[in-house]
Amino acid sequence: MDIIVRESYDELSKYSAKLIARLVKSKPDCVLGLATGSTPIGTYKELVRMHKEEGLDFSQVKTFNLDEYYGIGIDLDKPYELDQSYARFMHEELFKHINIKKENIHIPDGLTKKPDEYCKWYEEEIKKAGGIDLQLLGIGGDGHWAFNEPGSSLASRTRIQALAQQTLDDNYESFYKKAGIDRANMPHFAITMGIGTILEAKNIIMLANGIKKADVVAKCIEGPVTSQITASAIQLHSGGITVVLDKDAASKLNGLHHYMHVEKLKQEYGF
Ligand code: PGA
Repeated sequence: MDIIVRESYDELSKYSAKLIARLVKSKPDCVLGLATGSTPIGTYKELVRMHKEEGLDFSQVKTFNLDEYYGIGIDLDKPYELDQSYARFMHEELFKHINIKKENIHIPDGLTKKPDEYCKWYEEEIKKAGGIDLQLLGIGGDGHWAFNEPGSSLASRTRIQALAQQTLDDNYESFYKKAGIDRANMPHFAITMGIGTILEAKNIIMLANGIKKADVVAKCIEGPVTSQITASAIQLHSGGITVVLDKDAASKLNGLHHYMHVEKLKQEYGF
């Protein structure tokens, strides 16, 4: 596991965007797994800049998003702040600014009437695309990946999941409060890729920033692997793993000095 610590959110975002861009350049028809939330916004901004200023080409890239709220769908007639769908988030933060083909974008359909069949189909589509080359992830305040809330099996697949109270509280603070949306009207369920699904991605980048994430990041990376912190499944992944943190989110890692030393050595020796 490569643990990269950067001074600021801006630097973290540039680092993760560079990793994604490197894959897009070396494998133009790569499959990206994408995440929503406040953490990846800077990464998407940087990818948009690279597309506009440096011609980073997404024309053959396929994407699969981790999750979507259940019971809501994108509504482009609404102002962005009142459309809380993750499909809208991706449209506004990334897709509308780059040359990705609409048919190459996959986001779970929060309005599906047959969720079980739909979730199986989503898994099949990932397989048909050849699997996810690089999965971008944040980490929730309760240690979740996507909406795999505490207690989710570490072998779980795409399914409907009830949101934990902490997730509802975090989402309310980050998004709904600003939009003047009442807690009662927040979605309480989501369709989410499972931990087992995520672990099949060939490479993983996990991002976290801010002091609020410091405890959960330390538990995820250095604590036991547990379904109570589903992101701790990162310790079971067999491919390339890069964790990119700002210095606040990294501040509670016991091995911080060691990780920084390893990064320096790898740079020096060109690994
Ligand atoms: P955040 O959410 O980026 O808004 O902190 C992270 C997550 O829930 O995965």
